[in-house]
Amino acid sequence: MPFDLEQLRSHFPSLDSGIAHFDGPGGTQTPDVVGLAIASTLTGPLSNRGRNAASEVKADEAVLQFRRAFADFLNMDRRSVVYGRSATQLTYDFSRHLSRQWGPGDEIIVTRLDHDSNIRPWVQAAERQGATVRWVGFDAGTAELNMDELERSLTSRTRLAAVTAASNVLGTMPDIAAIAAKVHDAGALLYVDGVHYAAHHAVDLQALGADFFVCSPYKFLGPHCAVLAAAPSLLESIQPDKLLPSTNIVPERFEFGTLPYEIMAGATAAVDFIASLGSEGSRRERLVTAFESIESHEQTLQDELERALEAMPGVVLHSLAKARTSTMLLTFEDHTAGEVGSFLAGRNILAPAGHFYAIEASRALGLGDDGGLRIGLAPYTSRQDIRRLIDGLAEFLRQ
Ligand SMILES: Cc1ncc(COP(=O)(O)O)c(C=O)c1O
Repeated sequence: MPFDLEQLRSHFPSLDSGIAHFDGPGGTQTPDVVGLAIASTLTGPLSNRGRNAASEVKADEAVLQFRRAFADFLNMDRRSVVYGRSATQLTYDFSRHLSRQWGPGDEIIVTRLDHDSNIRPWVQAAERQGATVRWVGFDAGTAELNMDELERSLTSRTRLAAVTAASNVLGTMPDIAAIAAKVHDAGALLYVDGVHYAAHHAVDLQALGADFFVCSPYKFLGPHCAVLAAAPSLLESIQPDKLLPSTNIVPERFEFGTLPYEIMAGATAAVDFIASLGSEGSRRERLVTAFESIESHEQTLQDELERALEAMPGVVLHSLAKARTSTMLLTFEDHTAGEVGSFLAGRNILAPAGHFYAIEASRALGLGDDGGLRIGLAPYTSRQDIRRLIDGLAEFLRQ
C-alpha cells in the first residue's frame, strides 16, 4: 500500500525551506512528532529514573519504551537493545570489550566496502592485541563484495568479522544471512553495521543472523543517537569496565552514565512515525509494511533517476550492485564531484560530494580521498525533487 506523500511531507517543517534533500544518507530530516517528543520529555517534569514521582516515571518510561520500540524495529528481545551516542561510539566500545580476549594468532576480518566506523575500531583493537587483520575487497566494476575472498579469509583462527549490511556510498547490500552462516561455521562472531541498511529496509535481526547489529536513528527520521542489538545471552558473556554503584544487568551495563531520556523519547517517536506509514497490525507488523511502501516509493524514483543519468554524457554511476539501496554515487568525466555539488547547492538541491567516511571504498574505486557525488533518496523525496535534480545536472553539463 503506497503512503500519502503529501501527508507525510506535511510532517516535516524543514521541507518548507525549499531545499531538495538528497543528503539523507548523512542524516535525514526530522518530522514534527519527533521534535515534539523530545521537547515534551525534556520540559515536562523529568527526574532520574524511578517509579515514585511522575517526573521519575517519565524518565523510566522513556527508557522502557525506547527498548520496546527498537525491539520491534529490529525484531529482537528488548533486553538486546543497547543505547549509544553514535554507531561509532558503540563500535569503539564493543571493539574494546571484545578484543580483550584476542591475542597473537587470532584474526579478524574487515571489508573495504565499510564505513570507517566499522573498520578502524577493529583494526586498532587488533593491533593493540597483536592479532592479525584480514581485508576483504569488493569489485569496483560491479560494486559487489568479494564473497570468495571473504570465505578464503575465514579460518579457525577468525574471532570476528565486521561487515556492512549496506554501503553508505554505493548502496551495495551484501547477503548478511549467507555471511552469518559462513562466519558461524568458522566459529567466529559477526558484527554488522546496519546504519545505512536500516534507513531503507525493515531489519529482521533474527533472519539476518548477525551477532551484533548497529544502527543510528538520525538516518531514519530520528534524533542523533544509535542502537546496538545483540542476544541477551551474548551480552551477558561480555563484561565491560563499569562504575561500582552502576547496575550490572544487561543491557544497562553497557550504557554509561545518565541516559538522555529526551533523545530516547525522540527515537521512539521516529519508530512510531515510520510504523504509522504501514497498514494494520502490531507495531512490528506495521513497520514491515511501512518499509515495503518506502522501498517501493524509493525504487520508483530511483528507476526514473537512473534512466535519466544513463542518458547524460560524461556521468559515471558507481552504484551497480544487484542488491542495493536507493543511494547512488556519481562521478563526472570532465568535472569534480565537488563542482557539481556546489552548482546544485546554488539551486537549493543538496547532494554533497565526498568520501563520507567510506574512505577505503573511495580509494578502492580509484576516487582517492575526493569520493563522488552522493544522491540519497528518503521517504520524503518527491518526484518534483527528482525532476529538479535531473534538470540541475543537465543544466550543469550543458554549460
Ligand atoms: C554506513 C554507516 N556506518 C556508520 C556510520 C557512523 O554512524 P554514527 O554517526 O552514528 O557514528 C555512518 C554515518 O554516516 C554510516 O553511514
